[in-house]
Amino acid sequence: MGKIFAVTNQKGGVGKTTTTVNLAAALAENAKRVLLIDLDPQGNATTGCGIDKATIDKSSYDVLVAEASAEDVILRHEDSSFDVIPTNADLTAAEIELLDIEQREHCLRLALEPVRSDYDYILIDCPPSLSMLTLNALVASKGVIIPIQCEYYALEGLSSLLKTVERIKQRANPALEITGLLRTMFDARNNLANQVSRQLINHFDKKVFHAIIPRNVRLAEAPSHGVSVVSYDRSSRGAIAYMALASEFMRRENS
Ligand SMILES: Nc1ncnc2c1ncn2[C@@H]1O[C@H](COP(=O)(O)OP(=O)(O)OP(=O)(O)O)[C@@H](O)[C@H]1O
Ligand SMILES: [Mg+2]
Repeated sequence: MGKIFAVTNQKGGVGKTTTTVNLAAALAENAKRVLLIDLDPQGNATTGCGIDKATIDKSSYDVLVAEASAEDVILRHEDSSFDVIPTNADLTAAEIELLDIEQREHCLRLALEPVRSDYDYILIDCPPSLSMLTLNALVASKGVIIPIQCEYYALEGLSSLLKTVERIKQRANPALEITGLLRTMFDARNNLANQVSRQLINHFDKKVFHAIIPRNVRLAEAPSHGVSVVSYDRSSRGAIAYMALASEFMRRENS
């Protein structure tokens, strides 16, 4: 059965989408069957996977609230090593429409049941908020991956995310665990980054991935070509870091 992971942090611009796309590609490089779900109305992961938001017929909106089967919405591209449920701004409406649905936090989990066995890993790119969309991702997931940019405000908001995870674990999804905290856009020459990194390890110990994602221009360039960094420049520091993350992630998941 495919294991589902939410890549989330309500803080914006910390590397959620970059991590979802590149971890998906790095896992696929390891011959894993991967599905990426774009659950952010900004649709950055969709664009980053080379899919034109303007031309998609069905999106994660349809899977969540319009009762489309996931099977009908999944895009399988010959030149992509993993499958995608794309999105666009339509998903903004889901936030409101979900309010009228019973068991509204469970919509994504239920919708994914029929396709889970087709994949080893399903990665969900979440929006920068603790919204109903993020709650759906957390209820559907077994693990949470939290990208963190090591800067002054990095830890702010982390405690409310952790409280939300704990609440969902108690009420709706007992299997939910923090898989790991990931240091992103890391600059080892920056004292503050090193200080925040030490704080993270003091607080969260083994929950912090050993793999560190450096600030690397190739990671910022790859999305404009609609490909992962592994396809764009596999010898770049960014690609090497995401391959290392994938190895560590698979070890943690023992598969
Ligand atoms: N390691 C990195 N090195 C250089 N640039 C990066 C790195 N990671 C992300 N970026 C760039 O930083 C910006 C924000 O990254 P990204 O979109 O992944 O963050 P996000 O958390 O998904 O943002 P949002 O909260 O808006 O969804 C993007 O322009 C991305 O290309
Ligand atoms: Mg994003």
